[in-house]
Amino acid sequence: MVKLIGYKKIKTAVFTSGTGSNLINLIKFSHSKKSPIKIQLVISNNKNTKGINYAKRLRIKNKTFYYEKNKNPEKLILKELKLNKIDLICLAGFMKILSSNFIKEFKGKILNIHPSLLPKYKGLNTHNRAIRNNENYSGCTVHYVNSRLDSGKIILQKKVKISKNDNHITLKAKILKQEHILYPKAIIKLFSNS
Ligand code: GRF
Repeated sequence: MVKLIGYKKIKTAVFTSGTGSNLINLIKFSHSKKSPIKIQLVISNNKNTKGINYAKRLRIKNKTFYYEKNKNPEKLILKELKLNKIDLICLAGFMKILSSNFIKEFKGKILNIHPSLLPKYKGLNTHNRAIRNNENYSGCTVHYVNSRLDSGKIILQKKVKISKNDNHITLKAKILKQEHILYPKAIIKLFSNS
């Protein structure tokens, strides 16, 4: 378990692959007074995304590792995390599965946000599957990461109503909006002293 010691903020790395809206949101949150985290490093497997460019503009250290080109990208990532004395990893739309060895190195120190009400709809295409199954609700979950996909201990969830007119695009947008509220809330729940 990561503990907040005194007023020192937790050195955090955010992992991202896609648009990076959760990354941008976490960066904004980390600049607020109430944030227990400081984003020290951004790890990505994809260059020039909106999120990475945002981090660059704010001069937040960022590193891109191409999984296709590297034999052992996790080894390089671990080296970077150690170099930056990272204490917490927030996965935010990182589309690579971390190996159990990697997870062991950061046991209890990796969080993820997933766009469904876990344990329902682990993995990809959550919105389509929820709509196809005529669910009345979907939502998002912040959870610890363990070696089984989307199966670690749940920290917080938010329900989102699926309306008759929703398709996977509108549902994704509704849920993403809630993700941006939920991730900071979960971090505060875990690490704030007050
Ligand atoms: C989010 O829906 C997140 O829950 C999932 O991937 C998506 C990433 O979106 N793991 P973004 O890149 O943060 O905009």
